[in-house]
Amino acid sequence: MSIDAQQLQQLYRERYNAAPVIGARAPGRVNIIGEHTDYNHGFVLPMAIEHTTAILGRSRNDTLLRLYAGNLDRAAELNLEKRVRNEAEPWTDYIVGVADQLIALDKPVSGADMVIMGDVPVGCGLSSSAALEMAALAFFEQAGAFQLDDAAAAQLGQRVENEFLGLSTGIMDQFISRCGKAGHALFLDCRSYAYELIPAAFEEALFVIANTACPRGLTASKYNERVSECKSAVTVLQEYFNASGAYLRDYTMNDLLACQEMMDDVPFRRARHVITENERTRHACDAMRQGNAAALGVLMNESDISLRVDYEVTSRELDILTDIARRHPDCYGARMTGAGFGGCTINLVRRDAVEVFCAALLQQYKEKTDKTGEVFISEPAEGARPLTP
Ligand code: GLA
Repeated sequence: MSIDAQQLQQLYRERYNAAPVIGARAPGRVNIIGEHTDYNHGFVLPMAIEHTTAILGRSRNDTLLRLYAGNLDRAAELNLEKRVRNEAEPWTDYIVGVADQLIALDKPVSGADMVIMGDVPVGCGLSSSAALEMAALAFFEQAGAFQLDDAAAAQLGQRVENEFLGLSTGIMDQFISRCGKAGHALFLDCRSYAYELIPAAFEEALFVIANTACPRGLTASKYNERVSECKSAVTVLQEYFNASGAYLRDYTMNDLLACQEMMDDVPFRRARHVITENERTRHACDAMRQGNAAALGVLMNESDISLRVDYEVTSRELDILTDIARRHPDCYGARMTGAGFGGCTINLVRRDAVEVFCAALLQQYKEKTDKTGEVFISEPAEGARPLTP
């Protein structure tokens, strides 16, 4: 799928009676493995998807931001001097949040007229918000003739989430939206921000994303709860070992087992998920480097069970969808992806059986839940970049 640049230009002309001069686009993402590890300074392995958010526009000589969201058919006018959240038009928060963070860094940010349009499915765990943030950032970078380095760009997006929107999310979504490479997944160390691009091309298999089509209930509060449960586990580990390591990344499974008796069951299980998931993610890289779909599938299944039993971020519908997938003979492995509590699964499926798999998945999901799911197939795509207006 792709954004129709001509349609976007046309939209701009109709709204603002002028031609756009700046363009930017940034993709959504799907995480192959390494879930709820980023804010624990661990490892993740996402890939950017072909669904993107695009912005066309031009700078203004004042501090007005005139925004039009083509998908929603909503317009908003804001002033950069008053950078606050807008409850009536919450989609503007991502753009204002990016401007706010850039101003905090003393970057030149002026007003602008923009049209925004995207095909990243919203609210189903494919990071439509990171795509909008990274597209807005690429727009402001061009408008102000400056460029952040990639880690700084992703961190800025994370601060928009943490400080402007009050979500304790990690760095993964913004990082992959900024740095994705066609044909590759990105293995990221969320402590050092060192990353390696890993070819994501299996001869005999491809990734299928499946959407439960369920709104993600209470995601923000449950997500923040998980973050603090991990912190509780770290507090016990630090005391027990008289250690300074402030993140679960700093501890091994043996460390965790050594202080199991001092720890409540919930933080223990949360920590067990994170520590084992970091291991699985490293092994998944090896499997991908070797083009070993069977080995990656096993790790994806193990990750899903851990997220279901230990981390408790799946939902009835996610569990049904992954169970159906795993029983299918052409599926190597399936897991929930993203924050969880609803949203999407990712499935590694035999290439020549993809249609049969998708049809069976959707039909059985409908029978079991009475809900109409949907599937997306995407090659690993490019990260944020300018778009010729
Ligand atoms: C959301 C967050 C990410 C990450 C995932 C879970 O997508 O934005 O930072 O924590 O959940 O892996």
